[in-house]
Amino acid sequence: MNSIHKILYQDSRNLEDIPSESIDLIVTSPPYPMIEMWDEMFGNQNPDILKALSCGDGPLAFNLMHEILNSVWNEAFRVLKNQNQ
Ligand SMILES: C[S@@+](CC[C@H](N)C(=O)[O-])C[C@H]1O[C@@H](n2cnc3c(N)ncnc32)[C@H](O)[C@@H]1O
Repeated sequence: MNSIHKILYQDSRNLEDIPSESIDLIVTSPPYPMIEMWDEMFGNQNPDILKALSCGDGPLAFNLMHEILNSVWNEAFRVLKNQNQ
């Protein structure tokens, strides 16, 4: 089986260059919400996360971090082929 490999160094919340249902497999290692080493990275994508963390509102920060990941998962779902078809 042949495979095609292409590196796109970009924000995975918007994969508009990739056609829908064109990818066979996604392997991902996302940043982990509420692990301190990723706080700044999440905060750069949504400053409200840093505000929530500085106010001690962990649940809000957690949800906002997952909103970022949800955008990534939505794009992953869009570009993946439906193997049932
Ligand atoms: C847990 S690390 C994975 C590291 C990688 N597996 C490695 O071995 O180097 C999460 C990575 O996701 C990247 N990242 C965070 N938000 C992203 C986004 N919106 N789009 C693309 N990459 C993102 C981070 O910069 C970080 O490099």
